[in-house]
Amino acid sequence: MIRVRRMVVAVTLPIVLSLLSCSDGDTAQPTAPATKVQVPDDGTGLKAIQDNDPSPDAISVEIDAKETTLTYGTSPPTKVWTYNGTIPGPLIEAKVGDSIKVHFTNHLPEATSIHWHGVRLPASMDGTMLGQDPVNPGESFDYEFTFKDEGLFWFHPHMHTDIQVQMGLYGVIRVRGQNEPAVDDERVVVLDDIKLNPDGTVYDYLDDMSRMMGREGKLILLNGKVTPTQKFLPGSLVRLRLVNAANGRFFNLSAPGVTWRVIGTDGGLIPKPHDQDRLLIAPGERYDVLVRMPSKVGKIQLTDEAYDRGHDSGTAAPLEVATWSIEGETVPQQLAMPETGPSIERLSAGETYFTARLNEKDTPDGVVFTINDQTFPNVPPVNVPDGSVKTYVVKNESEMDHPFHLHGFFFQVVSRNDIPEPADALMNKDTIILPAKQSLKLVTRFDEKGGWVYHCHILEHAELGMVGVINVQ
Ligand code: C2O
Ligand code: CU
Repeated sequence: MIRVRRMVVAVTLPIVLSLLSCSDGDTAQPTAPATKVQVPDDGTGLKAIQDNDPSPDAISVEIDAKETTLTYGTSPPTKVWTYNGTIPGPLIEAKVGDSIKVHFTNHLPEATSIHWHGVRLPASMDGTMLGQDPVNPGESFDYEFTFKDEGLFWFHPHMHTDIQVQMGLYGVIRVRGQNEPAVDDERVVVLDDIKLNPDGTVYDYLDDMSRMMGREGKLILLNGKVTPTQKFLPGSLVRLRLVNAANGRFFNLSAPGVTWRVIGTDGGLIPKPHDQDRLLIAPGERYDVLVRMPSKVGKIQLTDEAYDRGHDSGTAAPLEVATWSIEGETVPQQLAMPETGPSIERLSAGETYFTARLNEKDTPDGVVFTINDQTFPNVPPVNVPDGSVKTYVVKNESEMDHPFHLHGFFFQVVSRNDIPEPADALMNKDTIILPAKQSLKLVTRFDEKGGWVYHCHILEHAELGMVGVINVQ
C-alpha cells in the first residue's frame, strides 16, 4: 500500500502562508516540496483522531479511556488500558491558534485524568489534582484549551501515573506552526517499553529495582509495536518527531551511519540545529530531528544503547528498537538540510528565586524520592507572582539522573554546574535530564495563574515523592 505522506506538508502550506501574511515576527521561509514523493506505508503510522468540529480553527474530539486486549510478540494476550482502543492512543492534529474540546470519558475500573504534557493551558485543564477532581469510573470531563505553540506534545494520566502509563495510556498531539521545514517524509515516533509477566499481564509490582530505576521492560515498543520494520525511500529527508513515553527507560538511539540533526525539542523548533551521532531521550522529552536516508537500498538497525544514568545502568546490552528498511525508488531531488530555525525569545536570567534539591532517601518501606528533603505533598510550595520571569536552580544530590519536568511553562537553561549555557543552544524545554550530582539553573516566565507541579518524569519517582508545587498568583 502506498500513501502520499508528503501531502501533510503541502496541506499545511496555505495555513503557513496565511499566518505569515499577518505576522511581523521572523521571516519564515516555508518552501514548497520540490518533488512529489510517495512514501511507503509500513503500518507503523499513528491514526489521527476524528475531529467532529467542521470549523478550521476548532477541534472537537472524544477520548475514551478503556480496557482492551493486545498481544505483544509471542507472549499470551495482555489486558491493557488505552485511549480509544489503541496504544499509542489517537494522534491529535492541530495548528497554532486552534481551540480544542476533548470530551473525555473514563471506562476504566479506577479514577484517572488527562495531563497535556508540554501544552501551555489554564491550570484547571492541566489534569493534576491541583486543578481538577479525579474523573471517576463512568464519569466524563471536558478539557478545553487553545494551542499556543507549535511542537510535539503528548498526553497521559496524572493519577496513579506509573501504573496507568505503563498500562498503555498515552497519546500524541502534533501542533503545526510556521517555519515547518520542507521534508520528504515525516513520522511521529513514540518510544516505550513494557514488562510482562509470564501469563501476559502487565508487570505492576513495585520491586526495589523498579522503585530505583522506574519499571523497565525488555520489550521495546515503537508506536506500540515490538521491533517493527519502518520503510523509507533511499535518499529521502525524513523528519522524525520522537517522544519517550516510557516510565523509566532513557532511550539512547543509535542507527549506524545515521546522523541526527536536531531541529527542535519539547517547545518546538530551535534557532540553531545541531548534529548528534546518538539521540538520548529521557522519559517525557521530545526531539524533532532530520535524518537523511542512505541513497542505496538496504537495512539499518535502530537500537537503544546503554546509557549510564546511575546505579550501574551503563552496561546493559543494546536492545533492538526497529529495522529501517531503505527501499523503493531513490528520491530524485534532494531537499536541503536546514541550517537555521526560527528564533526564540531569550528570557533574561536574574537572581535565584528558589532552589529545588532532588534526592533519594531510604525508609523501612524502601527508597523514596525527595525534593528539599520532603516527599509530596510535604514539599514546601513556591509562590511566584503572575507574569514574572524567575530564575531557579534544580540540584541533583542523588546518585542517579532525574528527568526534571515542569508543568504549564517552558524553561530555558541558564547554566549547568554554573557553566553558562552556550548562546546558540537556546531552546524551550519542559523536561530535561538532570544528571547525578549536577545542577541546572533555569529560567521561566510564569504567566498563567494557578497551582502547577514540577516533578521527576521517572513515573515511579514521582509516585514515590519527587513532586513539588509552584503557585502562580
Ligand atoms: Cu508528563 Cu506531570 O507529566
Ligand atoms: Cu527521578
